[in-house]
Amino acid sequence: MEHLRIDREKTAARIAQDIETLSGPAHTRDAVAIRRYAYTPEYAATIAYFTRELEAIGFTVEQDPVGTLVARNVPKGAPAFGIGSHSDSNRNGGKWDGTLGVVMALEICRLNQELGLGLPLVLISFLEEEGSGFGQMLLGSRIVAGRTTEQAMKETIRELDSGRSFWETAQAAGYQPERWRESKEILDGLIGWIEPHIEQARVLQDTENRIGIVNAIAGYVHADIHVHGRDDHAGATPMNFRLDPTTVLAECILELERLAIEEGHATVGTVGEIEVHPSLINAIARSVRFSLDIRGPRDASYIGVFERISAFAHAAAAKRGMTVEVVERQRNPATPMDARIVAALEAAAAATGAPVLTMHSGAAHDTMCVADTVPTAMVFVPCKDGLSHTPLEDAKPEDAALSVEAILNAIRALV
Ligand code: GLV
Ligand code: MN
Ligand code: MN
Repeated sequence: MEHLRIDREKTAARIAQDIETLSGPAHTRDAVAIRRYAYTPEYAATIAYFTRELEAIGFTVEQDPVGTLVARNVPKGAPAFGIGSHSDSNRNGGKWDGTLGVVMALEICRLNQELGLGLPLVLISFLEEEGSGFGQMLLGSRIVAGRTTEQAMKETIRELDSGRSFWETAQAAGYQPERWRESKEILDGLIGWIEPHIEQARVLQDTENRIGIVNAIAGYVHADIHVHGRDDHAGATPMNFRLDPTTVLAECILELERLAIEEGHATVGTVGEIEVHPSLINAIARSVRFSLDIRGPRDASYIGVFERISAFAHAAAAKRGMTVEVVERQRNPATPMDARIVAALEAAAAATGAPVLTMHSGAAHDTMCVADTVPTAMVFVPCKDGLSHTPLEDAKPEDAALSVEAILNAIRALV
């Protein structure tokens, strides 16, 4: 099939316009960062924008029982190719993470209509990819994949702002979490799935590539370690009379760094959240909670580091007369992408004439859950200096337009 060259300038301009619109005050809860998450007015306004744009080009748009957006130009369940990402953001997010992927998918739908290509398409914008509302990454796609339980939705998964359960919060927003088992139907009929996304690292920029084709996504464990000490007076308590949980925190952070480096195989480990109770300058802490985010493309490696840091924390606390609890939040295995879709993307990307790199994704994506039942791949757009999960995130609409051209051509070859 001959490569179809799109009007790249026109596509870049439309992408820039969509991103600008979705960065306006109606779409973020913060004056500097992009901050939007499930069941907030800013998120609803974002979903409403995509709904309007998609209906204008003849798509049927609906939401699954918990709020994942699905748009189709074919009847429900008919064979079609899936494209999309998520349009919630990190709490300290930028304009591009997630949203660019949905905007690019929208642009593919527009081009399909404008150019009369007749491709059967399903666009999905998954709910709560970032965990900004409920502290659980990939929540919408995990519900679709049946990777979370009703009990967790009713009990352990709680809104960060209010402490209310996911179940109650979704119901209060007008959704029907009791029908969550029907969420999986949004993937019915999909013969393939491609998620466009910014890279969130600096590999493409530094190797001067303009399109990234993802052949695997790193797996991860998310957990919390709670260290229990004793809240004594910071001045009156001699050093050898203390049960200070912050000392265990400090040892664990350094040990996690050492373990991840020692393990290799691109394993990474991060303590991103630290809560010290009661957090007073003149009191020894009673307890500390810190989070673990441990990832890599090799399951045995990052899971091994998680097991070793857990054992280390128990031993470090015991040595000082304290105790710890390790509470796992979730884990997702490393996910290989589908070889046929990757090959089609590589061929279409090469035909754009732009420099292309095939690579793995260190960050997690909803595509991990889609991959349970549908052949999948991802396409990365370079981002400035690799910055992501910060308002400084930046990317070029011209690069996104190149990837749109590659994805459109890959889908033409695959359907
Ligand atoms: C998702 O945003 C991640 O942190 O991988
Ligand atoms: Mn994302
Ligand atoms: Mn993200």
